[in-house]
Amino acid sequence: MKTAVLGFGTVGAGIYEILKTAEGLEPGPVYVRRGKADEPWKTDDFDAILADPSVGAVAEAMGGLEPTFDFARRTLESGRHFVTANKMLVAEHGIELQAIADRTGGAFLFSAACGGGVPLLHNLALARRGDEIRRVRGILNGTTNYMLDRMQSCGMDYGEALKEAQALGYAEADPTADVSGLDALRKIRLAAAVAFGILPDGCLNEGIENVSVEDIRFYQSKGLVLRLIAKTARTESGVSAYVEPVLFPQNAPEAAVSLNNNLASYEGRFCGRISFSGQGAGRWPTASAVIRDLENILSGARRMLPERTVSAAADNGGEKQRYYLRLPEAFAESFPEAEPPEAGAADGELRLVTKPISVAGMHALAAEIRQKGGRISFAALEE
Ligand SMILES: NC(=O)c1ccc[n+]([C@@H]2O[C@H](COP(=O)([O-])OP(=O)(O)OC[C@H]3O[C@@H](n4cnc5c(N)ncnc54)[C@H](OP(=O)(O)O)[C@@H]3O)[C@@H](O)[C@H]2O)c1
Repeated sequence: MKTAVLGFGTVGAGIYEILKTAEGLEPGPVYVRRGKADEPWKTDDFDAILADPSVGAVAEAMGGLEPTFDFARRTLESGRHFVTANKMLVAEHGIELQAIADRTGGAFLFSAACGGGVPLLHNLALARRGDEIRRVRGILNGTTNYMLDRMQSCGMDYGEALKEAQALGYAEADPTADVSGLDALRKIRLAAAVAFGILPDGCLNEGIENVSVEDIRFYQSKGLVLRLIAKTARTESGVSAYVEPVLFPQNAPEAAVSLNNNLASYEGRFCGRISFSGQGAGRWPTASAVIRDLENILSGARRMLPERTVSAAADNGGEKQRYYLRLPEAFAESFPEAEPPEAGAADGELRLVTKPISVAGMHALAAEIRQKGGRISFAALEE
């Protein structure tokens, strides 16, 4: 199947290279910006790609929503297959693109958009057909895992760990999407859509910006390891979806995930817990996931989203867990049932452990305290 590639950056160049040797696939034209088609196999004319009857599929690695959405729509309208690594495109327009694919017989697959080379979505899409998926969770952002790992193993402070992650090319010059948990949240929303047929809106994300090296040392003194975890689960009225720091015992699989690696797991009624670990980003792991989708299309796959997938508000009010907190003494009354103060906080601050509290409740209290100017750091306790 001849596959055109949109974008010739980190991921696009990798896809183009692997297409040369992958079974049953061959590289088609590569779409680049106007005036940048400096090789005969590059083009800046998308219409020419659609006019070429030998092109059977398009693999998108440009990023962004425009002109990407327009190209995706037109590719699928033409009856061709469309594969993407672009989580924003899928979150924003995935349901609509799947509807076009259903009508025209094209495939719409997006493994690489969540977990890079880690085959989470691919396996979730297969598993949910014969099993009942109950929850999906994981370390889905390599940058923040790298930073937490360095803070834990080398005692680096947040700023040093971020600088190192940027120097190694793991973190962008503007790292906000990674450190705020937004990148991991975008990925877990796609996992929810694939697992449950519900693309959750209004989800919650607490990143690692409020985690200090003193917090890490305190947790270590309790035998706990901090990881940034994205979670989604079936609830009574829909699905939960959120990202927050979580504390694991040292022997938990999450605690062993080092540097910029990812670990993604799902739990099915019949299969139990299944986990995948590996590189969640980078040229070759991400390109390999795009190629896996194309191979899957050759075997007949046409969709990852379940039929009748809808968008709905996340339900984060049900599940309850205990949280470790560091907050100003003045705000302790926000948590009247928390366990008595623990040592290990700076002057004017307290460390508390809450009674079980809902995710929505904890995130709302933290937002309220911050709005009043208080600095709070919180992490769920894995029990
Ligand atoms: N990098 C990863 O590890 C990774 C992992 C998972 C998913 N992804 C996803 O993969 C996609 C691509 O990421 P990337 O890291 O490969 O980005 P990148 O290195 O910036 O590459 C994007 C390429 O697309 C080109 N491009 C952008 N807009 C274009 C347009 N309107 N017309 C023509 N060409 C255009 C860019 O050209 P210019 O250089 O001229 O702007 C660049 O060559 C994104 O959606 C990203 O979220 C990336």
